[in-house]
Amino acid sequence: MPAAPPQSTGHRHPFSSLGRHLHRSVLRTCLPADALRAAMRHGGLPSGGSDALLVEAAVRIVAEDAREAEALHRALDEMHHEAIRRFESARNEIALLALWTAAAGTPDMPGAYWAVLTHPAAGRLARHHAFGDVEMLATPQPTGPLPMLLGRRSVSPRRLMEPGPEADQLDLMLQAALSAPDHGRLHPWRVIEFRSDAREGLADLFEDEKRRRDPIASAHDIRRARGHATEPPCLLAFVVSLRQRKKVPLREQWIAAGAALGSLMNAAHELGFGAIVLSGDRCFDPHIAAELGLVEGETLAGFISIGTIADPPPEAARPLSQTVWSCWSPQVALLRTAQRPRMAWNISDSEP
Ligand SMILES: Cc1cc2nc3c(=O)[nH]c(=O)nc-3n(C[C@H](O)[C@H](O)[C@H](O)COP(=O)(O)O)c2cc1C
Repeated sequence: MPAAPPQSTGHRHPFSSLGRHLHRSVLRTCLPADALRAAMRHGGLPSGGSDALLVEAAVRIVAEDAREAEALHRALDEMHHEAIRRFESARNEIALLALWTAAAGTPDMPGAYWAVLTHPAAGRLARHHAFGDVEMLATPQPTGPLPMLLGRRSVSPRRLMEPGPEADQLDLMLQAALSAPDHGRLHPWRVIEFRSDAREGLADLFEDEKRRRDPIASAHDIRRARGHATEPPCLLAFVVSLRQRKKVPLREQWIAAGAALGSLMNAAHELGFGAIVLSGDRCFDPHIAAELGLVEGETLAGFISIGTIADPPPEAARPLSQTVWSCWSPQVALLRTAQRPRMAWNISDSEP
């Protein structure tokens, strides 16, 4: 029988412990702008401008001033005392989630959000769900056909926060990647996951690579290089792993690997996570490749960061489909071939 969830006996979590992304989300959702102004003693808030600017200023101020964070906590408690009392009955995270689910999408949502985030039993699970529900309602969802495929956007690591995907969600993403078109079913790619206990080691490799490439790198540059290894909630390396097969040319294996990467990214998006692939110079560094265990025929294509979206990216402008479309006829093909500039480089099968 599965173990019973732990009973909640602790104290409520203070506002200051929630982190910047939740500060932003709570202040947007649970405290109207005039109440926010009244609660903060600080003079640094902008007098005009949008509510979003006001919230950004407040988030910056409370990050540096614990007394402001306490003042906001008191104001939020005062405004939402009824919800806090209602949520007191939850003795564990599952009960808390049940209460949250009943309140999500109703007018009680702002109070419930504050109550759930600060509840003693609130852990990663409850916070992830509550945050996801609130941000989902705040962000207009794409409508029309193919909303998931057409709505995917890359989300920069600085817009991501914990939690990353659970093991079964990551597994689903890999299954999606394995369902991409793949000549010969070779799956000419693999991923390497970097769990929390491996991140400092990876950060050492990134720092080392940065110092070799840029001997005068500043302390800020080094912190950034290390941050690429330590900050993403979930971090994978995507390795293209070509096979020697007479019937499957290397160029088709590259395409299969790219298709798999695309499916993995779409699956992450469909599961509600933000994700991005980044390569950068470190992916071209033989020392890093060797340290990660890559062998002959393998290429470190990029690092995939995956996490909960703390700050949604702006709308992506997509090219019109006509830019990649044409309709063949012998005359048109001749005309276009004559117009197209000749390629200045040689494309070989092994160097895509
Ligand atoms: C293999 C690979 C490596 C990439 N490396 C970088 C990179 O180092 N820096 C970067 O800004 N974008 C990189 N990108 C592009 C981004 O992942 C992303 O696709 C791009 O910013 C466009 O955003 P979108 O996916 O929302 O259209 C890479 C994409 C791929 C497929």
